[in-house]
Amino acid sequence: MEAIETKVDKKDPQYLENYGRMEAMVARLNEELRIAREVRSEKALARLAEQKKLPVRKRLELLLDKNTPVLEIAPLAAYDMYDKGVHGAGSVVVIGVIHGREVLVTASDPTIKGGTIYPMGVKKALRCQTIAMENRLPLISLIDSGGAYLPLQSEVFPDLDDGGRIFYNQAIISKMGIPQITAVMGLCTAGAAYIPAMSDEVVHVKGTGAIFLGGPPLVRAATGEVVTADELGGADLHCRDSGVSDYWAEDDTHALQIIRDIVQGLPDPCKSKLTTRSPRPPLYDPRELYGIVPRSLSTLYDIREVIARIVDGSEFLEFKALYGPTLVCGWAYIHGYPVGILGNYGVLFSNSALKATQFIEICDKRGIPLIFLQNITGYIIGREYERGGITKDGHKMVNAVATATVPKFTVIAGASFGAGNYGMCGRGYSPRFLWMWPNAQIGVMGGEQAANVLISVKNDQLAREGQPPLAEEMVKAIKEPIVAMAEKEGNAYYSTANLWDDGILDPAKTRDALGLAISASLNGPIHSGPQGHGLFRM
Ligand code: COA
Repeated sequence: MEAIETKVDKKDPQYLENYGRMEAMVARLNEELRIAREVRSEKALARLAEQKKLPVRKRLELLLDKNTPVLEIAPLAAYDMYDKGVHGAGSVVVIGVIHGREVLVTASDPTIKGGTIYPMGVKKALRCQTIAMENRLPLISLIDSGGAYLPLQSEVFPDLDDGGRIFYNQAIISKMGIPQITAVMGLCTAGAAYIPAMSDEVVHVKGTGAIFLGGPPLVRAATGEVVTADELGGADLHCRDSGVSDYWAEDDTHALQIIRDIVQGLPDPCKSKLTTRSPRPPLYDPRELYGIVPRSLSTLYDIREVIARIVDGSEFLEFKALYGPTLVCGWAYIHGYPVGILGNYGVLFSNSALKATQFIEICDKRGIPLIFLQNITGYIIGREYERGGITKDGHKMVNAVATATVPKFTVIAGASFGAGNYGMCGRGYSPRFLWMWPNAQIGVMGGEQAANVLISVKNDQLAREGQPPLAEEMVKAIKEPIVAMAEKEGNAYYSTANLWDDGILDPAKTRDALGLAISASLNGPIHSGPQGHGLFRM
């Protein structure tokens, strides 16, 4: 395979300006991640120490193998929501390694409102279960939670995708034969009591861990019985009398050791095999991506320059290079794994959509994972293109993306607008993982375009009524709030807060995140179901 020859001039003032801008964005990202990891109230930290509990990140450190890679999921979920302190939506979720085996760990953070579950916490828990199911990863839960965050109970309880779905999924995961192991490391009250109850094996920490459907205050109010938390649902009661828990642990460290022992005894995952090569770094420094990404989403840049900085040896075998050039497709290796890459280099035309359809079909037939590098404002519009059937060609691409059974991974490296988001495997198309770069924007369309559509609709209405079009100041009054809203609700932080993605990535870390995610995906079968696609409209 030939290496991509870069055309980037690292002395170009535009490159240097882009570099400085992205460097500042990455610095902000790292600071937000630090705050989410570290900043907790004095009161919560003191309470943790008083109870002799380990902080959530220390628990993870002791659970996972030393010096092994960790892929954290949605560390900035619920960013800027609620009272602004519900970091990571109140839990830490990672894919990590125990005794050489990849597992998915979800850990409640008791220093955030007693580990209670906010609406975004439910969404994160469901996302975590989807990852476990799609990738057949053993699910380890470290529970230390006061259950539902009561002031928002209507948002966490009743609907299809609310709290009850977590326990429904646990039953399905169990039926699928995916191991579920839970450590009770604090109170597991009400809803949170069902997490251990629905697991295969439960490790229970003496003194601090307790499981009950109603806590001591509720029991007293309802029945008049006065009991302590330990008497009502502690390790002794559940390990000796009720049989709810299976392993009695002296403290947090002991519980984590027991989980490690359980994982060591699990049957071999027999990971799916790909035809791999020895991994090699790209020829070009991935940090050069900072200088490549332009300030404006409407400035085109060659996605091959991105591919050259994420694939092994920068080598890329381009498919149909001369046909449908606004979509770059081709084969490469990432950390030794073979991949088929689709990356945008302009709007999608009929020929680029047909090329994508053929390429996706080939990858699906051959069992090669797909990587989508999104920088897409949409499919081409206009009379000529409608006449040429852009809608039916776009449909074929969307159909192929939806029905492809190989693992799919999406990185939003710039714009992600309209049906372009669908064709390039947005969240609705079930990529195994999806990340945003800090500069990325997502929405039906850009704010300016959305405002112009609404203004034009209004002017058409006025014309029908025989009135003059909107005056300049009215146009401004309609436009400004729409543009401001689109900018706020389309940016990477808003997306990640709402769990529309699995996290914001430093562009320079894209290659490593993809490598870890591909490796995790191989715990499941290469094909997630029967191959084939729906009817293609010809
Ligand atoms: N909803 C909303 N807030 C809750 C809460 C809940 N279910 N449970 C606890 N909190 C808040 C507390 O008000 C406190 O907030 P503050 O820091 O602003 O003062 C914070 O979480 C920590 O609670 P605290 O009781 O001081 O800490 P703790 O470590 O001693 O105990 C719990 C934590 C969760 C075990 C304990 O608060 C508890 O038992 N909560 C009630 C659990 C319950 O009955 N849940 C039923 C919901 S289905």
